[in-house]
Amino acid sequence: MNHNTSVFLFLVGLSLGLTTYCYSQKSDVFLPHTAFHPGQLWPDSEGNHINAHGGGIIFHNGTYYWFGEHKGENSNAAWVGVTCYSSSDLYNWKSEGVGLQVVDNELSPIVRGCIIERPKVIYNPKTEIFVMYFHLERKGEGYSRAEVGLAQSNSVTGPYQFIRSFRPNAGFWPHNMSIGQRQSDITTQDFEKWWTTEWRQAVNDGLFVRRDFEGGQMSRDMTLFVDDDGKAYHIYASEENLTLHLAELTDDYLSHTGKYIRIEPGGHNEAPAIFKKDGRYFMITSGCTGWEPNAARLLVAHNIWGPWVLHPNPCVGDNAHLTFFSQSTFILPVQGLSNAYIFMADQWRPKNPIDGRYVWLPIEFHNGLPLIKWYEKWTIKQVFE
Ligand code: GAL
Repeated sequence: MNHNTSVFLFLVGLSLGLTTYCYSQKSDVFLPHTAFHPGQLWPDSEGNHINAHGGGIIFHNGTYYWFGEHKGENSNAAWVGVTCYSSSDLYNWKSEGVGLQVVDNELSPIVRGCIIERPKVIYNPKTEIFVMYFHLERKGEGYSRAEVGLAQSNSVTGPYQFIRSFRPNAGFWPHNMSIGQRQSDITTQDFEKWWTTEWRQAVNDGLFVRRDFEGGQMSRDMTLFVDDDGKAYHIYASEENLTLHLAELTDDYLSHTGKYIRIEPGGHNEAPAIFKKDGRYFMITSGCTGWEPNAARLLVAHNIWGPWVLHPNPCVGDNAHLTFFSQSTFILPVQGLSNAYIFMADQWRPKNPIDGRYVWLPIEFHNGLPLIKWYEKWTIKQVFE
């Protein structure tokens, strides 16, 4: 072999080696996922960790669409908006861009730098409109406004147009608040200190519902639920996060009818996620410890209007008392299978929010009640089929 030939062969070898190296880097990225890996990085089809926190999923025309909070590296505020991803198998997700974009108009409630959390989208077949609800806080006002934001689109992936933000059910009493509670003259002014026995009793008796009766009820962590009859409901942490409200939406899903109930008064539930199975409604919530995880709770009802009965933590095994370091956001019925529901939760990383992880676990049933246990890795086939 002369010198030129060996140089030539060396170069061919090098370029083949490089090609193989580059290919394997890429193929790692594009390798389709075949299982769920709760708590791990979850790359989308372009190799970027999915950025859709506090999210929810809608199934439309054979495809799942996941909407969630876009998060950056340093702040939990909304600098981009609500992101959307699509998938046909639930393991592999393609970015569909930003469904609801924040704006640069300082006068808009959704100005860049506001807080947008826990977006959920439902479809109204009568109007053929996709409706998005989310928790909205105004820029620079912390979590004080406690409003719900509303947006709509003709197309599932958006762009969603912001409609308005408000506190729901202004001027309406909860169905399950007694006449005595409605007419009580005890006000927040009567209490110098929170958390006393008397204050707790007053909260349970609707102290904050009365305070907010005219301006509308506080609405923070939230979800939406469409029942079999097409009626939609907005479920939100109200009354200073002390009591959940479940409220009926109008037929076009664009406002509240004024019919609502209080659930677990003073029970400190947030992060509500709900599903229906065999005529019963199951709601999984968390306690209120901000970004820190706590134990999940389970509420069960035979009628959406209650009574809702509290059951122990549905999670079992190691770290069940911290919901496997996560907080509920949505419960997804898997299409095409009866009795297959996925518990979706967030592992928050408040110091680097974009690194927040997703914990998706199967909901299994034990003695008629949901049970959630940890899987390092699992597939729909393995657990449900
Ligand atoms: C959590 C809530 C999150 C976010 C956070 C802010 O309790 O579930 O959505 O609002 O508090 O501290």
